[in-house]
Amino acid sequence: MDQDIGGAIVALKKHGLDSLPPLGIVLGSGLGSFADEAAEAIAVGYAELPGFPVPSVEGHAGRLVVGAIEGRRVALFQGRGHYYERGDASAMRVAIDAFKNLGGATLLLTNAAGGLRSEWKPPALVAVTDHINFSGTNPLIGHAGGDRFVPLTRAYDPELIRTLRRAAGEADVALHEGVYMWFSGPSFETPAEIRAAQILGADLVGMSTVPEVILARRAGLRVGAVSVVTNYAAGLSGGDPSHDETQEYARLAADQFKRLLRAFVRQAA
Ligand code: HPA
Repeated sequence: MDQDIGGAIVALKKHGLDSLPPLGIVLGSGLGSFADEAAEAIAVGYAELPGFPVPSVEGHAGRLVVGAIEGRRVALFQGRGHYYERGDASAMRVAIDAFKNLGGATLLLTNAAGGLRSEWKPPALVAVTDHINFSGTNPLIGHAGGDRFVPLTRAYDPELIRTLRRAAGEADVALHEGVYMWFSGPSFETPAEIRAAQILGADLVGMSTVPEVILARRAGLRVGAVSVVTNYAAGLSGGDPSHDETQEYARLAADQFKRLLRAFVRQAA
């Protein structure tokens, strides 16, 4: 499964991206508009970057935008590939490895998620402190290198979590902390699965991020993650979760989310 990053690197260089900044941010469902705020930006569609995932999901533009936020050059991945789109858990592998290869050091992953805590009224922001892989798969299955045995003990970098806390204080936004459980999707969970997730120690459920954390840790990147709780998870509110609701509440969170990210960019070393 070793996908070659050479083609992506050649294409990035062709677009003037000979190097990438040390900080990258993956913008999840309904959160991509942050990339529109980048100054002096170079934007390249994933379709032009061999091995990058061309998203099939509404709310995911599928562009890499490199530009300045708060005067600092940042690589903004506007949209991601999900396992459920093509059955490929390593959909983001070339994007992540190319980022690392061209200078990336820190990757902040963002996503929309279902909340398991009644006190987290959507849209709420949560720094992910750990995860539970409930998908039954792993993006490194089939990867032959010795580096496949990636330790995930401190996968969510404690220093980045502290930086997120400081950024939240500076931006005056409430930032909770919790454990994210990865379900494959694309169907939403059943109420019984959500009760199981609660018993197992999850605070959030979602269909992304975990494979990227694993790939990014394998690549040696520092990783952080922020979820926007767009709904109470299945069975907790009476209503049905939906992709439309996810996008609507992600947009409602946009102002707080962008303030948090701007403060994070200012603070991240
Ligand atoms: N479950 C899984 N993924 C999600 C949810 C959810 O309730 N909300 C947003 N993404």
